[in-house]
Amino acid sequence: MSETSSQQSEGASRRTFLKTTSALVGGAVLGANATVARSAHGGGSDEIKVALIGCGGRGTGAATQALATKGKVTLWAAADAFESNLKAGLNSIKEQVKRGKHENDPLFNDSTVSVTPERQFVGLDAYQKAIDSGADVVILATPPGFRPIHFEAAVKAGRQIFAEKPIAVDAPGVRRFMAANEEAKRKDLMVAIGLQRRHDARYIESMKKIHDGALGDIMFTRVYWNSGGLWVRTHADFAAAHGHKPTEMEYQINNWYYFNWLCGDHINEQHIHNLDIGNWIKGDKHPVEAQGMGGRQVRTGKEYGQIFDHHFVEYTYEDGSKMYSQCRHQDGCVGECREHAHGTKGTLDIDDGAIGGEMKFADGKKWRSKGKKVDNHHQEHHDLFAALRDGRTYNEGDYGAQSTMTAILGRMATYSGKIIKWDEALKMGIDLSPASYDFAGTPPVLPDKDGAYPIPIPGKTEVIKS
Ligand SMILES: NC(=O)c1ccc[n+]([C@@H]2O[C@H](COP(=O)([O-])OP(=O)(O)OC[C@H]3O[C@@H](n4cnc5c(N)ncnc54)[C@H](O)[C@@H]3O)[C@@H](O)[C@H]2O)c1
Repeated sequence: MSETSSQQSEGASRRTFLKTTSALVGGAVLGANATVARSAHGGGSDEIKVALIGCGGRGTGAATQALATKGKVTLWAAADAFESNLKAGLNSIKEQVKRGKHENDPLFNDSTVSVTPERQFVGLDAYQKAIDSGADVVILATPPGFRPIHFEAAVKAGRQIFAEKPIAVDAPGVRRFMAANEEAKRKDLMVAIGLQRRHDARYIESMKKIHDGALGDIMFTRVYWNSGGLWVRTHADFAAAHGHKPTEMEYQINNWYYFNWLCGDHINEQHIHNLDIGNWIKGDKHPVEAQGMGGRQVRTGKEYGQIFDHHFVEYTYEDGSKMYSQCRHQDGCVGECREHAHGTKGTLDIDDGAIGGEMKFADGKKWRSKGKKVDNHHQEHHDLFAALRDGRTYNEGDYGAQSTMTAILGRMATYSGKIIKWDEALKMGIDLSPASYDFAGTPPVLPDKDGAYPIPIPGKTEVIKS
């Protein structure tokens, strides 16, 4: 049997197993399939083992949320580039599980953290060891520059996958992810993407109404992530945490937000959430071109690497409609993290905070979503694990890739100052990755003698392979 077909049957039998086991728990009759699957999966336990790759802020959050879903979930393995992050992440998860049990939260009843020392992996090859550790589900929560590599390896090994957004930082990475996602579909593997608004009832209701025609034709959308900045991790921070001065590669991976080969700029890392909603409003279509402007005015220090602190992009869809997008990381300015749709019959204002979803129609009527506000980060894990236990097909990879590429297209437009076409960008967008992934190796961007990194200059910066 070829590797592919053996893994295919592994993925399929896992889902059969979970489906039959949960049916059994629900009192159904045990069939022949269940017997086969039970013997293949540890005596019929409905335990789902999870491996976490990238034990930082979101990884520890996602792993804890996965543990706090219905049924027995065990954190089985963990991997991180840096040992101190792995230890801190694991401690944080253990604390949260302990607290959940102490507070008698029933969702933590069957949660176990069982990451023995031999299942704790450190370094840039740690991801592969975690994937091969015997877990059923892998959570990919490293900086997004690594996502296509880690995703491809997880698919190859036949794992079920929760991958944080964005799924890449450049067009070659998006293409690599898309190819692996097709393989995931062939193998019937589950692929969840951390675009949690997709799991928020208020968004789901609002989208259904739009797609049923409530707003008429959508003429344009406006999407915003305007806020202050995030963390920055200096050389001194690294030395204090790790006990030695970082190599340039270590420094950049630790301070990943500010390097495009790791982050893809904040238009990709954060604003993707709002761009994803813009595409969803348009029936999950992508823009065909973009033009825009941006720069760095406030966040100009060397520790901020090479990314911009603001972007404005005008995206155009095939039908001529527009998406106007703003993202800004500047303190003291007006903030907004929201989406709006303007149709021939009315408008939608939506966010994952206070508004939830509200429509105003041309005839003066109003509609407000009755969907309950939930922690949509947690909800996406409830949905994934329920689907896994039911054996349902589950793949969010296509819109994850499309929304990532939409963000990358916007960045290509603001960096170059040119009109950038989707097809050309996806096919010919430049590769940002380093020659090799090695802490002693050379990253693709280097500081000058004063420690400053090259900043994109509109009108000069090339974004398409010549
Ligand atoms: N869906 C959301 O709302 C949301 C929110 C925050 C972050 N995120 C996403 O989650 C991902 C992680 O973000 P974060 O905030 O947790 O960052 P973080 O810096 O807190 O954590 C990243 C972790 O990955 C580790 N790491 C780096 N390179 C690695 C590699 N090659 N192999 C293994 N480990 C590696 C780092 O050491 C660190 O511990 C990003 O893609 C980010 O966009 C999503």
